[in-house]
Amino acid sequence: MKKILAVAPMMDWTDRHCRAFHRMLSKNALLYTEMVHAGAILFGDQAKHLDFDLIEKPLVLQLGGSEPLDLAQAAKIGQRWGYSQIDINCGCPSERVQRGSFGACLMADPKLVSSCVLAILEAVDLPVSVKHRLGLDAMNPAQSQNDYQYVLDFMLGICDAGATQLSVHARNAVLKGLSPKENRTIPPLRYEIAKQLRVDVKKYYPHVQVLLNGGLSGNSEIFAHWNDFDGFMIGRAAYHTPAILLAWDRMMETNGQDYGYFLNEQTWRRVQEQFVEYTQNWLLACQESGRPERFQLAGITRHILGFAHGLGGSRLWRQQLSDHRLLHRVKTVEQVRQFFEMAAAHLRIFSDQSDSYIPYQQMD
Ligand SMILES: Cc1cc2nc3c(=O)[nH]c(=O)nc-3n(C[C@H](O)[C@H](O)[C@H](O)COP(=O)(O)O)c2cc1C
Repeated sequence: MKKILAVAPMMDWTDRHCRAFHRMLSKNALLYTEMVHAGAILFGDQAKHLDFDLIEKPLVLQLGGSEPLDLAQAAKIGQRWGYSQIDINCGCPSERVQRGSFGACLMADPKLVSSCVLAILEAVDLPVSVKHRLGLDAMNPAQSQNDYQYVLDFMLGICDAGATQLSVHARNAVLKGLSPKENRTIPPLRYEIAKQLRVDVKKYYPHVQVLLNGGLSGNSEIFAHWNDFDGFMIGRAAYHTPAILLAWDRMMETNGQDYGYFLNEQTWRRVQEQFVEYTQNWLLACQESGRPERFQLAGITRHILGFAHGLGGSRLWRQQLSDHRLLHRVKTVEQVRQFFEMAAAHLRIFSDQSDSYIPYQQMD
């Protein structure tokens, strides 16, 4: 079975424009929405929360919530909208999410999580997955057999209910005293435990795919763990240095080995051309819907600021892409093209003629 390379769900980051951009870099990466609360889908503006561009598929809708019937209903609507998979968030430690009794605190109630998976699977014909942590608060599955067994049982219960993919953020969630940001850096990463959990899960559910998430900084690091997991979910590194996605389709074809990439002129031009067309189409769609104010170029360009990372002239390029005076002047499809072409004019991109292959790590 081919391994999965996924961009993690990230609130306020992996919106539709970000995902469309990531899809231009990798045809087969698994992309996730930001977490959407089931209630927002049932009682809110569905189009606002669920609309996406078909190019984004395969696309996973990540749901937040803890009411099995609400989640099932929201998943059903997600299926009608065209999503490829439904994911349940059992990893978010924020206080707001805790007040709503979902996210990471669901790990304290494994039976409820299994009921959520079951209810969703009864409602839809899509694969269901769960994203979770290695444990809660002071649990230490590296030192305590009880804590290890707890998280293993949590995972087995989810598999028993019918989920086919688990993404393990390989650190605990600390529910009191740490902010969400600190919860992504302070609790120690325990890849070895995640690896062992996968081995134990697969003894009972060999078809279930266990993905490693947390702290992976680039493709060579993914490759270093290639044989230990069924896939990898990358969050911040994919957002801040999106060019790593340029190697992902080849990595999936070559069992991880071909993980370097070369951001040359030809690739830059292809991506820029696609991005210009995408932005022009979005402008036209906003104008045709009678709500031209929905076109906010800054909300699109912010997701690509890391793309020129490591190239000469990238600072000026980023400044132009974030310059509100310039951004506000763009009102027509011609101006969209001029804007991106002018911004890139001073970038020093490796020429097509160069035959040197530069793995990402050496590009800085
Ligand atoms: C800005 C931001 C927003 C996030 N929002 C979500 C979210 O909506 N759902 C979720 O399951 N995880 C969310 N996360 C956690 C990531 O999916 C991921 O688990 C975490 O960043 C660790 O992976 P990384 O080290 O590769 O970034 C978010 C992370 C960041 C940085």
